[in-house]
Parts: sequence; structure tokens; C-alpha cells
Amino acid sequence: NEGALWGGRFASGPSPELAALSRSTHFDWALALYDIAGSHAHAKALAAAGYLTADEEQAMHAGLDTLAERIVDGTLQAAPGDEDVHGALEQALIGVVGPELGGKLRAGRSRNDQIATLVRMYLLDHSRTLARDIVRLIDAIVAQAEAHPAAVMPGRTHLQHAQPVLLAHHLLAHAWPLVRDLERLRDWSARASVSPYGGGALAGSTLGLDPELVARELGLSRPSENSIDGTAARDVVAEFAYIAAQIGIDLSRFAEEIIIWNTREFGFVTLDDGYSTGSSIMPQKKNPDIAELARGKSGRLIGNLAGLLATLKGLPLAYNRDLQEDKEPVFDSIATLEVLLPAFTGMVATLRFDAARMAELAPQGFSLATDVAEWLVKQGVPFRDAHEISGALVTACEQRGIELSDVDDALLAEVSPALTLDVRGVLTVEGSVGSRTGVGGTAPVRVEEQRAELIARTQGV
Ligand code: ARG
Repeated sequence: NEGALWGGRFASGPSPELAALSRSTHFDWALALYDIAGSHAHAKALAAAGYLTADEEQAMHAGLDTLAERIVDGTLQAAPGDEDVHGALEQALIGVVGPELGGKLRAGRSRNDQIATLVRMYLLDHSRTLARDIVRLIDAIVAQAEAHPAAVMPGRTHLQHAQPVLLAHHLLAHAWPLVRDLERLRDWSARASVSPYGGGALAGSTLGLDPELVARELGLSRPSENSIDGTAARDVVAEFAYIAAQIGIDLSRFAEEIIIWNTREFGFVTLDDGYSTGSSIMPQKKNPDIAELARGKSGRLIGNLAGLLATLKGLPLAYNRDLQEDKEPVFDSIATLEVLLPAFTGMVATLRFDAARMAELAPQGFSLATDVAEWLVKQGVPFRDAHEISGALVTACEQRGIELSDVDDALLAEVSPALTLDVRGVLTVEGSVGSRTGVGGTAPVRVEEQRAELIARTQGV
């Protein structure tokens, strides 16, 4: 078992079947540079505690730098016999600095505290890339809102016409969940920025190494308070997988609307050619594949979270090899979002809205009925009665095959004496939208305030 991290008490090396099952280098090699960073920090801690001379420490750092260069240029790769990234890099280090010095680095650390630290570093780095990608998407949504300050559309509940709203209001409603995703990433980062390094296999170290020094060197805020928790907990990984899944769901809900808006029946949007696809048989087709992939991939992101939670359920403390299964799901979630977000942003940025079509449909389906009822309330009519009167007006319109905006004076009088001619003031989409001035409402002045607040919140992240 030449080159393995263990073997002293074994008469034979691992069987080929075990080696094939056990090997993780095909995915944990993504942590190679973090492993090197951890080793630099650990070498400092060993030197500070007197286990490496100044010369040895320097040679160690130089050797690790050489490995890092070779990882970056691709000349250093895991060998088929390497079990994991940690073993592969120890072997490579020995190749560079010799067995005497190379064999000293492993003192006071275990792969258990190493891997728990490295996965946090990896996720923290990628959380910053994700945050940047999310900000770009928010910017694209806000730009569309700004480009259509007065456009109206049918607001829906149960997918039925409900009340007219500003397009900008609706678009910003898709930006707010993304702002919260940014805030979730920030809150998560504070919890994730903890270093299990120094916890060893589970019980801590006898060597008097300084875990504060290691945490500081790795850019993490502090060492784990409990070496068992530090090596065995993966809630921080699961929480990241949840945030990734939530981002996917937030994209998916927007995607579903874009798919609907892009149908011939709706006709609200046209997709840019660069962000839509054709059909191999139907020459006329232009498909919203980015939106569909967002919807589809959100399922995969949920699966990654669910799979990881299933791995963690019922695991006794401390480290168990099951924990090796934490990485592929989150790595996949990150890779998925890193290709999805830029494409989704491009699609949103280049959407063309048919404002005339949306304006035509906005008052249809009696979507001004609530405005009539609330107008009556302002005239002193109890809401219960106002609701009845407005409902009766809808029925009268329905019978005549007209919309609320088409009612004449005679019909108003026939339905109720309370419906004086002044009610016409709210029987327009602009009147309806403009009067919804309550906090968070769709009135242009509120939407403008909301947009400013949203931008401020995005800046803070
Ligand atoms: N490859 C393992 C993981 O990803 C770390 C190694 C710990 N192995 C062990 N036998 N204690 O979790």
C-alpha cells in the first residue's frame, strides 16, 4: 500500500473493489488548492509550536508552492492509486521535499478536520461568485422595470385576472426573493466561516498547535468550539444546498411565467434570438429553453439538498465515511447555478415586452371590481354591501358581454343608487393602479420607492 495515508497495521493493501469504491479524487480534486492553503497554515502552526525549524518551514512552504503551481497548470493530478486529494497531495509533497520533511506535515491533523475545513472554504469562495451572479440578475430585472415605468398588466391570483398592476411592480416581485437569497448567503457565510482545523480525527490535538492562527491564515473567523462538532457537522453544507435550491426555485417561478408569457395565447414577451432555441423539425419554432432548463434544474437542486439531508439523517457522531457524500451534491448545485444564472440573466435582460397587449388585457376579466367596491367603501358603504353591489355590476356586465370599463350611466343606476357617475374615476386601469398607494402597493410612486429600496438592499450585500 505504497503511498497511502494508512497501512501500518494492514497486512495487505486494499482490494481493487474497495479502492474503486473508496476513491474520491474525481471530485475532491476540486479542493486541491484549498488543501494546499490548509497545509501552508498548518505548517505555520507546526513551526510556531516548535515542530518545524525555520528552514524546514521555509522548505515546506516552497514545496507547497510548487504543488500549487503544478495543480494550476494541470501537471499535477491524482494518480489512479490515490484514495483522496489529501493522500495524493501528501505523496506529491514527499516527491518534492523528500520523505523526511514531507512526512512531518501530517502531525496534529486528520483528514476529518481537513475536509471539514476545506469544504467550508470552497463553499465560501463560491458563495461570492453566486452572489455576484445573483446581483447581475437583479440588475437585469431592475433595468427592465426602469425601462417600463408606466406599463400595466393583468395581475393574477389562481392564474385568473385579479387586479391590474404595473409591470415594474410584478418584475420587482421576482427580484425581492433574489435579494433575500443574497441575504441568506451573507447570513450563512457568518456561520460557515469557522475552522474545524486542529480538531484532529475528533478529539482535539495534544501538540499545542494554535487553531486561531490556522483559522486566521485561511480567512475564517474562528476555530470550531467543539472538535467533535467541527469534524462531524455538515449542517453548514446542507444549509448551502438549501440556499442553492431556493435560488433555483426562485428562478423557476420566474421561468414558468416567462414560458407562459411567451405563448401565442399570452403574447406578453418576445425572447431574443440569442436566448431562445429552434426545433430540429418545426422550422417556425422559437422555444424558451433557458426558462425550461431553469425550471428543470430547480428539481435537480432540490434533489441535491434532499440527498444530502438523507445522508446526514441518523449519522452518529463523530466522523463517518458517509460524510464523503456531502461534496458531490453541493459541487453539482454550484456548477448548475454557475451556468444557469448568467444564461437566465441574459434572457431577462433581452426580453421584449408587448406593453400594448398587456395594457389591453389588464382591465379584462372584471379586474376593476375591487376598485368599485373600495370606491363604495370610501363613500361610506359597508364593505359587505360594497362587495355585493360590485359583484352585481360584474354579473350585469357578464350578461351583456361587456367589461366594467364599458358600463353606461343607466346600468350603473340600475345596479345600485350608490353607484354614482363618479365611480368612473376608478374604472380605468391607470386610475386603479394609481390609487393603490398603500405601502408596497402598485401605485407608481410606491413602486419607485420600492425600486430605490431594493437597489439599496442589493448594495448592502
Ligand atoms: N475523503 C473523506 C471525505 O471526503 C475524507 C477522508 C476521511 N477518511 C477517513 N477515513 N477518515 O469525507
